[in-house]
Amino acid sequence: MSYDTQLFKLLENKRIADGVFSWTVKNSELSALAECGQFVNIKVPGRTLRRPISICDKDEDTLRLVFQVKGEGTKIMSEMRVGSEVEILAPLGHGFDIKKGRRYCFVGGGIGVPPLLFAAKQTENPLVITGFRSKNLVILQDDFKEIGSELYLTTDDGTDGIHGFVTDVLKEHIGEVDEVCACGPLPMLKAVAAVCKDKVKCQVSLEERMGCGIGACLVCSCKTKVGDEEVMTQVCRRGPVYMAEEVFFGG
Ligand SMILES: Cc1cc2nc3c(=O)[nH]c(=O)nc-3n(C[C@H](O)[C@H](O)[C@H](O)COP(=O)(O)OP(=O)(O)OC[C@H]3O[C@@H](n4cnc5c(N)ncnc54)[C@H](O)[C@@H]3O)c2cc1C
Ligand code: FES
Repeated sequence: MSYDTQLFKLLENKRIADGVFSWTVKNSELSALAECGQFVNIKVPGRTLRRPISICDKDEDTLRLVFQVKGEGTKIMSEMRVGSEVEILAPLGHGFDIKKGRRYCFVGGGIGVPPLLFAAKQTENPLVITGFRSKNLVILQDDFKEIGSELYLTTDDGTDGIHGFVTDVLKEHIGEVDEVCACGPLPMLKAVAAVCKDKVKCQVSLEERMGCGIGACLVCSCKTKVGDEEVMTQVCRRGPVYMAEEVFFGG
C-alpha cells in the first residue's frame, strides 16, 4: 500500500444537497494511486485531527470527495475557497475487491453512497440501489445514470423514488447479481448482509472514528472475525472494506 501526504489544490467546492458538498482536488501523483473504496485523511486548517473522507471518483490528476457537514471540521471544509491548498494524506485503506466478468450490485445509504460511484465505474452493467432519508439529501443520481447503471432510488419518507428501504429493492434483485458491495450506516449494512447471506458474496465498507488513518494510533480498532478467531483489526488499514462475514454487526 503506497500513500503520502501532499498538498492538493481545491478546484471545485459545490453544494449538491442540503449540507452536502462535492470537492474536486488536484494532485496528479496521489490521484493516480487511488483505488475504489479507499479514503483520504484531510488536514482541516486549525484542527489537529484529520478528517477521513471516501474517494468518490477520480480522473488522471484529480480526486472527487463528497461530504456532509457533521461538526466543525466538515463545516470549515464546506467554506474553503476554490484555489486554496489542502494537505491530504492519500490514498488510504483497502478498498473493494472488484473482479472482471461478475455482475455487481452496489447498495448505498446516505453519505455512504459516494464511494460506490468510483466502484460502480469499474464494472459492467452495475445495479445500483441508493437510499436517503428524504428528497433534500438525494445525491449523485445523474452520475450513476451517466455510467450506465441500472439505478434505483429509495427514500425513507417517500418524498422521492420508491418509498422504502434499499433492502426492499435488493431482495427483489438479488438473483440478478453475483456479488454485493455496500456502504452506509451499520444497521443498513447488517440488513444488507442478512439479505445476501447464503446467496451472494457481500463486501461492506465500515466507518469508525479515526485518528492517524495509517494504523499507528489504534483509535479505529474493532472486533472482527478471521476464520474462527475473533481479532481486533484496524479499520483504517485492514479495512475500511471487509467481507460481511468478518464483521460483528451487534444486536
Ligand atoms: C473510512 C471513512 C470514510 C468516510 N467517508 C466519508 C465520506 O465520504 N463523506 C462524509 O461525509 N463522511 C465520511 N466519513 C465520516 C467523516 O469522517 C466524519 O463525518 C467527519 O470526520 C466529521 O468531522 P467533523 O469535524 O465535521 O465532526 P466532529 O464530530 O466535530 O469531529 C470530531 C472528531 O471526530 C471524528 N469523527 C466524527 N465523526 C466521525 C466519523 N463518522 N468517522 C470518523 N471520524 C469521525 C472527526 O474526524 C474529528 O476528529 C468517513 C469516515 C470514515 C472512517
Ligand atoms: S486511525 Fe489510527 S490506527 Fe486507524
